[in-house]
Amino acid sequence: MNTSGRTSMFWDGRAETLEDQAIFPIENPLEMDLPLDEALRRLNGDPAYAEAFRVAYAGPATARTLGRALAAYQKTLDTTDAPYDRYAHGDDAAISESAKRGRLVFIGKGKCAECHSGEDFTSDRFRNIGLFDRAALGDRGRGAISGDPADDGQFKVPSLRNVAVTAPYMHNGMFATLREVIEYYNNPDKVVPDAHGRDAAMSGPLQLSAAEVADLESFLVTLTDDRFATAADKVVRQ
Ligand code: HEC
Repeated sequence: MNTSGRTSMFWDGRAETLEDQAIFPIENPLEMDLPLDEALRRLNGDPAYAEAFRVAYAGPATARTLGRALAAYQKTLDTTDAPYDRYAHGDDAAISESAKRGRLVFIGKGKCAECHSGEDFTSDRFRNIGLFDRAALGDRGRGAISGDPADDGQFKVPSLRNVAVTAPYMHNGMFATLREVIEYYNNPDKVVPDAHGRDAAMSGPLQLSAAEVADLESFLVTLTDDRFATAADKVVRQ
């Protein structure tokens, strides 16, 4: 979701465009585990798909047109009308007072906006929030792609749109709820004492009060599209 403006794909940025990204999961042995040639053979052997590709791309499905078709679909999955958007466009009643206070924590004391910025709450940068300790947390993230040890532990700053319904959180899914995520940011050392290369923006505990933690969570939930509101309520009540 909300991938159309992104400048890199996957947590470690291994693909640069949606068109390239689309092919990876087809071939990945942990995902669809299907050689691309076989996928194309099946598509072109199906009269309905063959016709649809002919109409859209004036030819059969190829690696290029398959990537384009999947990207075109993904570009329709953008959220632009969450309660927060309505608030930002002048509807003061669109979000609760708690969420309004939480927004101030997000851009102020919580320092969240240092990384989660812009329309989709991602700076499209790679940062290390401390979920890499070269042991149990061993995924080098961006470092494994760039080959530069200075990038070890960096992951793509994810968009926070629809975040109330995208649990579990982080590249390794280590947090089950938004509350756990916020508690982590509030005091990262408590969860990962031996983090390697954690970003300077996260030095020292934030010392958010219980009320500020709750307000921040309320704010994050307002970034979720109404289409998912029921699911979001469930997440908040957990
Ligand atoms: C130094 C940059 C930085 C700061 C500051 C920061 N984040 Fe993040 N955030 C990231 C990165 C990078 C990830 C992905 C990390 C990973 O998977 O290892 C992330 C992940 C998340 C996720 C998980 C999203 C998902 O889909 O899994 C949430 C929620 C989140 N951040 C909220 C916040 C909040 C709330 C704050 C402020 C208290 C905050 N972030 C501060 C960079 C930052």
